[in-house]
Amino acid sequence: MSWWWAGAIGAAKASSFLTSSSPFLKKQEYDDGPPKYQSVALIVGVTGIVGNSLAEILPLSDTPGGPWKVYGVARRPQPSWNADHPITYVQCDISDPQQTRDQLSKLTDVTHIFYVTWSSCPTEAENCTVNGAMLRNVLEAIIPHAPNLQHICLQTGRKHYLGSFEVLGNTEPHDSPYHEDLPRLDVPNFYYVQEDILMEEVKKKEGLTWSVHRPSVIFGFSPYSLMNIVGCLCVYAAICKHEGKKLRFPGTRVGWEAYWDASDADLIAEHQIWAAVDPNAKNEAFNCSNGDVYKWKQLWKVLAEQFDLEYEECSDGDERLTLEEMMKDKSEVWDQIVKENDLVPTKLEEVGCWWFAEVMLTYSSCMDSMNKSKEFGFVGFRNSKSSFVSWIEKMRAHKIVP
Ligand SMILES: NC(=O)c1ccc[n+]([C@@H]2O[C@H](COP(=O)([O-])OP(=O)(O)OC[C@H]3O[C@@H](n4cnc5c(N)ncnc54)[C@H](OP(=O)(O)O)[C@@H]3O)[C@@H](O)[C@H]2O)c1
Repeated sequence: MSWWWAGAIGAAKASSFLTSSSPFLKKQEYDDGPPKYQSVALIVGVTGIVGNSLAEILPLSDTPGGPWKVYGVARRPQPSWNADHPITYVQCDISDPQQTRDQLSKLTDVTHIFYVTWSSCPTEAENCTVNGAMLRNVLEAIIPHAPNLQHICLQTGRKHYLGSFEVLGNTEPHDSPYHEDLPRLDVPNFYYVQEDILMEEVKKKEGLTWSVHRPSVIFGFSPYSLMNIVGCLCVYAAICKHEGKKLRFPGTRVGWEAYWDASDADLIAEHQIWAAVDPNAKNEAFNCSNGDVYKWKQLWKVLAEQFDLEYEECSDGDERLTLEEMMKDKSEVWDQIVKENDLVPTKLEEVGCWWFAEVMLTYSSCMDSMNKSKEFGFVGFRNSKSSFVSWIEKMRAHKIVP
């Protein structure tokens, strides 16, 4: 792991010393001898696409701000692919206020919250209510009970500038490349609701700081993610291979030719850890993307190579079948692929987020600016093609796809 920001080396070195001047520690923790950890993370959404990266990176010995003790929250039992991380897994449904209070108010040693979760509702109005309440439940359970709480990272995303899925394509988004100072769009958006709740809640504790992280489409690993484009395309490719078909591009000409940026899940985790520990990054919103651009016409070839498939370029015919239409009868095919290849058991509806792929493969050019992060001291980046390949390899290594 390379740490790409000014001061990271100092922070990493400092993490090997535990001194009474550490801002993350209070005196009473010394009563039973020196504490083992400098910082204590609560990852909300620990099995998600970024949550899993945070769970892997935070416990490493050279992670700035560490040694870190890590709690991770999600609803389902801890899956095998997350269980290798040295974290304390907490099963809790944060949409239930009582359960959240009961489970999370006990975690009195938390110093940093990494909020990397969401719930998908049929309308954006419901998204605002549900996702606002989830964040509020967590903050109300932690802030009054964790005396050493220092910082809260909230992950939102590109729809801050584009508008919610509900209005995508029907509203005038800002002009790309997006920068953090652009005004909010005049349409409901659960990201705006979450930011407002965050601002209200941090005021309840003196000195508590925040950061908001706005990634583009995320390239990462998690079969539990609601939106995992790499995983979803791997499943599509595996089905094409199983059926002896070419890898046909199911998007549009616009999507095939568009310039996009991506956000590597490990890079987002590094960005959040930077904001959590670097005094320069406090109380700011930041874009977080790889720093380069790609076109699907380039990555499609890479995907085909990875699965040893022939591919078809985007066709301009009138009759376009969406991925959702192409995959609607493939549940049993996927079950067979899982069985034949001894994969981790998954259902097609869990690993094939076809609706999300449809957006990604049809949308016009869309990019952000990383200038603000760089100016504030974070100069991390990823090569998007290598990132794409590395997550395909990880999906394979964990036997999620053949
Ligand atoms: N994925 C992308 O490409 C992308 C791109 C840009 C922005 N974003 C934004 O990033 C934010 C986080 O999304 P993500 O994609 O990183 O998340 P994700 O991969 O879908 O992961 C969600 C995580 O939260 C857990 N979870 C869901 N509901 C929960 C609940 N009620 N109580 C406790 N845990 C719960 C899930 O596990 P269980 O289901 O087991 O509870 C999982 O661990 C969202 O605002 C999203 O819009 C995502």
